[in-house]
Amino acid sequence: MTARLLVAGLSLLAGMAFGAGTALGGHEALSVLLPGNPLEGSRLFAEKGCVGCHGVHGSGGTAGPDLGRGILNRPLLEIAAVMWNHAPGMEHLFQEKRVARPSFEPPQMASLLAFLYYLGSLDPPGDADRGALLFEQKGCQTCHKLGGRGGSVGPDLTGYSRYASPLFLTAGLWSRGRAMASAMEQRKVTRPNFQGNDIPDLLAYIRSAGAGTERVYAPPGSPKRGEALFTQKRCAECHSVRGHGGKVGPDLAIAVKGSLTGIAGAMWNHGPRMWAKMAERGIGVPSLSTGEMSDLISYLYFLQFIDPPGDARRGAAVYKEKRCGSCHGAGGTKLVAPAFARVVEKLSTPLAIITAMWNHAGQMTETTVEENVAWPILKGGEMADLIAYLLGREGGPGATPAAPAPASSRARKDTAPPK
Ligand code: HEC
Ligand code: HEC
Ligand code: HEC
Ligand code: HEC
Repeated sequence: MTARLLVAGLSLLAGMAFGAGTALGGHEALSVLLPGNPLEGSRLFAEKGCVGCHGVHGSGGTAGPDLGRGILNRPLLEIAAVMWNHAPGMEHLFQEKRVARPSFEPPQMASLLAFLYYLGSLDPPGDADRGALLFEQKGCQTCHKLGGRGGSVGPDLTGYSRYASPLFLTAGLWSRGRAMASAMEQRKVTRPNFQGNDIPDLLAYIRSAGAGTERVYAPPGSPKRGEALFTQKRCAECHSVRGHGGKVGPDLAIAVKGSLTGIAGAMWNHGPRMWAKMAERGIGVPSLSTGEMSDLISYLYFLQFIDPPGDARRGAAVYKEKRCGSCHGAGGTKLVAPAFARVVEKLSTPLAIITAMWNHAGQMTETTVEENVAWPILKGGEMADLIAYLLGREGGPGATPAAPAPASSRARKDTAPPK
């Protein structure tokens, strides 16, 4: 596939989630981090040359790893950490291919991260052959016509072939779910469950069976609107989110896992038990339009990936353990990098720190080689901790610009200034 086609494809993908990026900013911890939007991010992904080395689900360059294989299903700061961890490997290729390392302004980095985050929410493309098998095995064919073949208990599904996004199918399944369940019961068809990539596979088959070339994309999913719908549609009467809300069903910040369609699939799978509880409580089964479904599951998806707040004390330990100070001025060593007190003075947000780290990673790679220091790999949560420390909370180097370097004692709570 040519780069131009891919860019067009990615813009479409990003277009679908356009609302997500701005709405993500609604969350307190992220509002600092994410004023960007994924559509702009997809443009930068092409413009800054990422696409030349990285494919997404097989389309794009192959010099770097494919970014569509699940590596990006994580909180934003963790995505930044993944980029950081691989910086020396990328630097190596930048030099080999004689391309300049792309540098970013903080708002651009926010957009890029929003786009990478969005990529993580997508399913791999559906497999039409597997979908054909599922359509038969799960009994859909018994009741539904598709491309002229199949039963006529339920509506003809050929019309669904124009939908490029699985959201339409999941909304249809949800809103007709109860009537479908009783039709199944009558005809002694086992009610199917959806796992893994079942829904995208089914859609790929449905699409292949339709003759049309029309491609209807889903409206953008907005976690913020989804959060409001969660209360309006009375989900909150049974479900808590991080401990707040009803206790009839599971806490969805804990129970929900997976991609957007994975979450819609879980709603389907748990449907009968939910309907029973709704009946007990006199709550009608809420109908959801495609847009509402999209907003709700974007919200539930987002709950999985809120960065836990960084811990400045752990950050101090990370700073020491990763030997950042060996170049940035731990007491006694010669300075081979800007002193951190100086650095953090001008870097006042998580985004500014992430962006600076990326922009300087090329030079840092060289210095690590010269100084014979291992590249500091940041594991789960360590980026957030480090940022909390650098921003000067609880006595990080940013708290007192004149402080030379963090000694482990300074990191301890008893010496930390009150917040
Ligand atoms: C010259 C080729 C090249 C360019 C351009 C490039 N990368 Fe990479 N990238 C790589 C290579 C090679 C690796 C693997 C490095 C390693 O294994 O340490 C990588 C790793 C990554 C990873 C980690 C992937 C994983 O599966 O672990 C991410 C995320 C990433 N790059 C994002 C980007 C972004 C965003 C851009 C554009 C700003 C970009 N890359 C530009 C070559 C490139
Ligand atoms: C036992 C029969 C039966 C089986 C099996 C069945 N359905 Fe249905 N389906 C129905 C009926 C009946 C309706 C219409 C319900 C109503 O009137 O609200 C329906 C409605 C739908 C709708 C909404 C259609 C619309 O017009 O919006 C979709 C989408 C759908 N089914 C998909 C599937 C898929 C995919 C499968 C297989 C996993 C499946 N159905 C299996 C009977 C069935
Ligand atoms: C009357 C109570 C009730 C309402 C209202 C309700 N649910 Fe549920 N929900 C449940 C129960 C109970 C379960 C667990 C069912 C089971 O164990 O099979 C559940 C399960 C789920 C699951 C699956 C969780 C998992 O373990 O994977 C999701 C997702 C979900 N609900 C989303 C929603 C959404 C979105 C709404 C609002 C549109 C909603 N629920 C409204 C009671 C409810
Ligand atoms: C091997 C030496 C070395 C180590 C270890 C090191 N750095 Fe650096 N760092 C540098 C150099 C050299 C620069 C300046 C690069 C440049 O000018 O482009 C730099 C620049 C930076 C900047 C940008 C500063 C600015 O002025 O904008 C940040 C932020 C940063 N490093 C963070 C870290 C963190 C966090 C760690 C530990 C996880 C770390 N560094 C470990 C050598 C190092």
